[in-house]
Amino acid sequence: MATINKAAVQIRATLVGNKRVGQYHQLIISIGEIANQCRPGNFVAISVGGESSRMVLRRAFAISRVSESSSFGGTMELIVAPHGSGSKWLCAQGEGAVLDVVVPLGTAFGIPTEPVQVLLVGGGYGSAPLFGLAEVLHARGCRVDMLLGASTAGKIYAPMEGKRAVNSLRIFTEDGSMGQLGRVTDPIKSLIEDLDIAVVYSCGPMPMLAAINEITTGTDVIHQCAVEESMACGIGICMTCVLPVKDEAGNLSMLRSCIDGPVMDGSTVAWEKVGQVL
Ligand SMILES: Cc1cc2nc3c(=O)[nH]c(=O)nc-3n(C[C@H](O)[C@H](O)[C@H](O)COP(=O)(O)OP(=O)(O)OC[C@H]3O[C@@H](n4cnc5c(N)ncnc54)[C@H](O)[C@@H]3O)c2cc1C
Ligand code: FES
Repeated sequence: MATINKAAVQIRATLVGNKRVGQYHQLIISIGEIANQCRPGNFVAISVGGESSRMVLRRAFAISRVSESSSFGGTMELIVAPHGSGSKWLCAQGEGAVLDVVVPLGTAFGIPTEPVQVLLVGGGYGSAPLFGLAEVLHARGCRVDMLLGASTAGKIYAPMEGKRAVNSLRIFTEDGSMGQLGRVTDPIKSLIEDLDIAVVYSCGPMPMLAAINEITTGTDVIHQCAVEESMACGIGICMTCVLPVKDEAGNLSMLRSCIDGPVMDGSTVAWEKVGQVL
């Protein structure tokens, strides 16, 4: 049975950077030596609202990348969309604010043992963990192609420095305000064939992940996806984050995406049953 990430610790961590990038905030948080334990795909759960807050639930955010040798010791970067009360509170914190953080949580993306061709697909802030992942894959000798998509330009997160680790980056917006007009899933089938892709890594809204899985089903391509189920506790206690997952015999069970995920083998998820009570 899966358990909480064994490296997870609850720490008080100082916010050392908070920069607005388009519709997002790039937060840099000093986390010390635990940065060594963070892997692409892991997430953090942050307490929001201050000590007397009525917002009792922690909020989950993907770790975008870590730096182990910055002048602040180990740091991690988060990309946060300020949309509800908790994320708005977090984005309003200034440098020097001390945050209550549980890090690292969840599963990580699997890294191929051999250099292979990989495709990274991100939707909205789902691109956040993909740039750190691209750096690891690039260092492994993989060819890394990336597709990013969103409804509109302001929701694309594609920092200049992140592009160094990718061989190509194409952007798709549904209103055509940046990159090509269309959905990020449109070119995947032909790219898989043209570039001989072995693994697709994805992170973004559940319908996007389901659509990618439909494309990879019946092929030899492995689909590793970081799912975005709503999480209340983030540590395996409350069961709000369960997803229907098939075992090898095809039997379905509800797995907790906060500890059995967020990174999952897309071919094992029963996408048509997500959101249904079994
Ligand atoms: C693994 C993971 C990675 C994420 N990464 C990012 C990221 O990199 N950047 C980013 O901007 N966002 C990310 N999110 C989304 C982010 O967690 C939410 O946007 C955030 O929780 C919103 O909080 P809020 O207070 O702003 O919004 P609100 O909508 O005001 O509040 C959301 C609150 O409701 C709770 N909730 C929602 N649905 C349920 C439910 N069904 N049952 C019980 N409680 C529920 C949540 O736990 C949370 O406490 C991620 C989510 C997950 C699960
Ligand atoms: S979020 Fe509580 S069990 Fe997963």
